[in-house]
Amino acid sequence: MSEPLLEFRGVAFAHPGGPPLFDDFHLALAPDERIALTGPNGSGKSTLLHLALGLLAPQRGAICALGRPRRTETDFEEVRRHVGLLFQNSDDQLFCTTVDEDVAFGPFNLGWPRERVEARTRAILHQLGIAHLAGRATYRLSEGEKRIVALATTLVMEPRALLLDEPTAGLDESARARLLEILIELKIPLLFATHDADLIARLATRVIRLGAGAPGAQQIFYRAWKC
Ligand SMILES: Nc1ncnc2c1ncn2[C@@H]1O[C@H](COP(=O)(O)OP(=O)(O)O)[C@@H](O)[C@H]1O
Ligand SMILES: [Mg+2]
Repeated sequence: MSEPLLEFRGVAFAHPGGPPLFDDFHLALAPDERIALTGPNGSGKSTLLHLALGLLAPQRGAICALGRPRRTETDFEEVRRHVGLLFQNSDDQLFCTTVDEDVAFGPFNLGWPRERVEARTRAILHQLGIAHLAGRATYRLSEGEKRIVALATTLVMEPRALLLDEPTAGLDESARARLLEILIELKIPLLFATHDADLIARLATRVIRLGAGAPGAQQIFYRAWKC
């Protein structure tokens, strides 16, 4: 098996003052996998995605990404350049005036030259079928449009893996179907938190169910899938 993009090794974590959510948690995301994280509200799905990107720090164990253990903020800054996160609420991810400004923000911030940023922004909007939204005011978009634009802000950076927090939550049926179509086409490994049984059935190669109450994880099924 090829080397995992992301790995939790014996991770233990509790929020300050809260009960343990994870104790000796292990999970590896291989380059050809799309792993679904399920479990009741409060079981730690979002927490796990935040641990993966160093937004929270484990009390024990290690997070490895892109081939090495990651501990410091500098380590995780590098991880966050290569592993995207689609937030549960798109309004948390979009803060510019127009769609193209939002999509170009990350690459500009990394110091890419203007021509490269503009070309890449146009390309990703085209790839996701939202070229017509380019100059539109972000706050006027529908929830479904916002979710695809938020996805564009992550994909524009050409991530090597993508984490998604309840990507279909709050979307109507047609927006959900469109997002699913896009995610199926992506050729990068995914780790996504969701309650959406259809999304799991059609996208996941493996499902990890986080337990309520008892810290830990249970693997439900594995289905072969290759990029
Ligand atoms: N910043 C925080 N401080 C304290 N407790 C938190 C924090 N974030 C989440 N929690 C608690 O941790 C548990 C897991 O939350 P979360 O990871 O958001 O679960 P899920 O995404 O599965 O619904 C919940 O009980 C939640 O209230
Ligand atoms: Mg959550």
